[in-house]
Amino acid sequence: MFKTIIEPFRIKSVERIRMTTPEERAKLVAAADYNVFRLASDDVLIDLLTDSGTGAMSAEQWAAVMRGDESYAGSPSFYRFEAAVRELMGFPHVIPTHQGRAAERILFSITCKQGDVVPSNGHFDTTRANIESRGAIALDLPCEEAKDLASEHPFKGNIDLAALERVLREQGARVPLVMMTITNNSGGGQPASLANLTALSALCKKYQKPLYLDACRFAENAYLIKLREPGMATRSVRSIVADMFALADGCTMSAKKDGLANIGGFLATRDAELARQEKDLLILTEGFPTYGGLAGRDLEAIAVGLREVVEEDYLNYRVVSTAYLGDHLTKVGVPIVRPPGGHAIYLDAARFASHLKPLDLPGIALTVALYECGGIRGVEIGTAMFGRHDPATGAETAGPRELVRLAMPRRVYTQSHVDYVIEVVTAVFADRARLPRYRFVEQAPFLRHFTARYAPV
Ligand code: F0G
Repeated sequence: MFKTIIEPFRIKSVERIRMTTPEERAKLVAAADYNVFRLASDDVLIDLLTDSGTGAMSAEQWAAVMRGDESYAGSPSFYRFEAAVRELMGFPHVIPTHQGRAAERILFSITCKQGDVVPSNGHFDTTRANIESRGAIALDLPCEEAKDLASEHPFKGNIDLAALERVLREQGARVPLVMMTITNNSGGGQPASLANLTALSALCKKYQKPLYLDACRFAENAYLIKLREPGMATRSVRSIVADMFALADGCTMSAKKDGLANIGGFLATRDAELARQEKDLLILTEGFPTYGGLAGRDLEAIAVGLREVVEEDYLNYRVVSTAYLGDHLTKVGVPIVRPPGGHAIYLDAARFASHLKPLDLPGIALTVALYECGGIRGVEIGTAMFGRHDPATGAETAGPRELVRLAMPRRVYTQSHVDYVIEVVTAVFADRARLPRYRFVEQAPFLRHFTARYAPV
């Protein structure tokens, strides 16, 4: 009836934001060698670095934390956690891990060997790194529509089924499993449709390959299916979630996203023998299978979080508030990856700072400017993150895209925070011709973007 969609929560406990001036921030970011990962979070006004582990827990989750049972083996907290995963996703075997990448490492350690190929709509960087550390190839097969950042296609997270079938036909023996990232984080937070997942599952069955979901943002993907896919509008999110997981043989999950928790993850499967091997490995590095590197209280927080995350008022607020940021930026001409997904808005730094070339690090220039101008911390997903440096020749290769991600922590910021972000991005856009070139001063051989030092040219 009313057009304003309110945050479906009240705030009981607040965290102070320490105010800073542009002059202070210019000094702080210079002292951090222009890498926002090096900033103290106290020096940030609006922290959009990640939506991972940064959400606000509910009163129900904090109450559950008090119920956490810290028994080494057989804790009731584990059984509540296991029941919540089974109820939502239907997998019989549920293995807790300290976060998503631990689930990935265990899965790929067992299923992957040298020379294997793991196709996906788009691997996240930790997934890719865990596959590559086995000597296997992480192969991204995004749908054709995903390549046009500006188009409004509703399901740019889909996998290219024809390309996948070619891989399965020609090198099927090397493929231990197929992965699907919902939503596709590296590709702009875009969802996959239920139709694409259904066809994908049939294709995997035809070639007898297990299908795994990287399920970090499964609830956001399910809600975007409800909003965007024909015939889905009247269905409950829970039933869409059930359908999505019924198509899969297992999943990896970071509970730091759609588990609404600050830490945790899990690995799930229908395969009893695989689960047994995974638990053996879990004991070696994470812990006993009823805690997997987590405290009982963490398992409790995840169990409650998994129920809250599929509440439709929550998901509506979540998706609408992310779209609010994206649509306002589009309206003032700021180039972003369209349409807005669930967890973040991705600024297209190549078009934003069109006077800069990829090797001028336009995403770093934009990230620094957003911090200096308004104290906003985003993250570059461009040449600093995905480009390569040849130590022998010093040659730099550009990454595939130049994006800056503004990720929205769950249940943390209000509409006036978002209005402020819109104002700051708009101001930086108006002054974009002044964004300077940046260069590397120092870089590590792997995952260099976390620790690199930069300087304006
Ligand atoms: N898969 C996806 C799609 C992710 O986005 C992440 C984490 C992981 C796996 C790994 O999970 O952090 O619990 O080990 N993404 C965070 C981000 C770090 O900022 O997008 P983790």
